[in-house]
Amino acid sequence: MTATPAWVAAQDPARWLTARERARCDAAPSARRQAERRAGRLAVKRLLLDAFGVAPLAYEVGTDGLAPLLCGWPEVTAISISLSHSAGLGAASWADAGESVGVDAQHIRPAHPGLAARALTAREREQAGRLPSDAGTLLLWALKEAAIKARRRAWGRALREVVVTLDAPGEEAGTAWIEVAGEAEMRAWYGRQGDWWVARAVASHRHGF
Ligand SMILES: CC(C)(COP(=O)(O)OP(=O)(O)OC[C@H]1O[C@@H](n2cnc3c(N)ncnc32)[C@H](O)[C@@H]1OP(=O)(O)O)[C@@H](O)C(=O)NCCC(=O)NCCS
Repeated sequence: MTATPAWVAAQDPARWLTARERARCDAAPSARRQAERRAGRLAVKRLLLDAFGVAPLAYEVGTDGLAPLLCGWPEVTAISISLSHSAGLGAASWADAGESVGVDAQHIRPAHPGLAARALTAREREQAGRLPSDAGTLLLWALKEAAIKARRRAWGRALREVVVTLDAPGEEAGTAWIEVAGEAEMRAWYGRQGDWWVARAVASHRHGF
């Protein structure tokens, strides 16, 4: 689920976010960060309204210190949830309680010149090169960040240690496998939505994650 900048701008935040959630958004250090926090949380609220019919003000999007956590409504608090924000777009995704989900949105733009060399392996650079300009690099980056979020832990290692294999390089929507050394592989999905990549990775607790 994505909340586009135009959709977010058209919403009354009080319809979607509790007073405490709005206060947490307003506590971000800049107007840009405040808007990003709102976009991410609006995306979660819209997602769970569409998926489960849960009223947006019946629960809150809190945090475990890193990842988002749903508080206050037992039927939804058991699921895994992830959110992302990029250039005004909010993205959210959920997975069953036995799984752990990570979502990442990346605005497709000129990438930092050193990003591909720093973040991608040689094989990933070859896969990224099947898409025009920097779009491939940003897609691989989004998939890696989605996988890092699915782990729900701090990441203190090089991004090259998250290894992505696209099933069909060059496509604007598809699937991938993601491997972090010593951990179970994750399955991932991605697609282009306007000027953004949205990537989703799922780790399964049932496989020892
Ligand atoms: C965890 C990480 C992927 C989040 O990236 P980000 O750019 O802040 O991501 P987004 O803006 O898309 O999403 C932020 C949301 O992700 C969630 N989040 C943050 N860290 C998380 C983690 N470790 N696990 C799960 N979710 C996390 C939060 O809900 C956060 O939203 P909030 O701050 O509004 O509550 C990033 O901080 C990271 O550690 N990256 C890898 C390290 C690295 O090398 N980065 C540089 C790349 S060149």
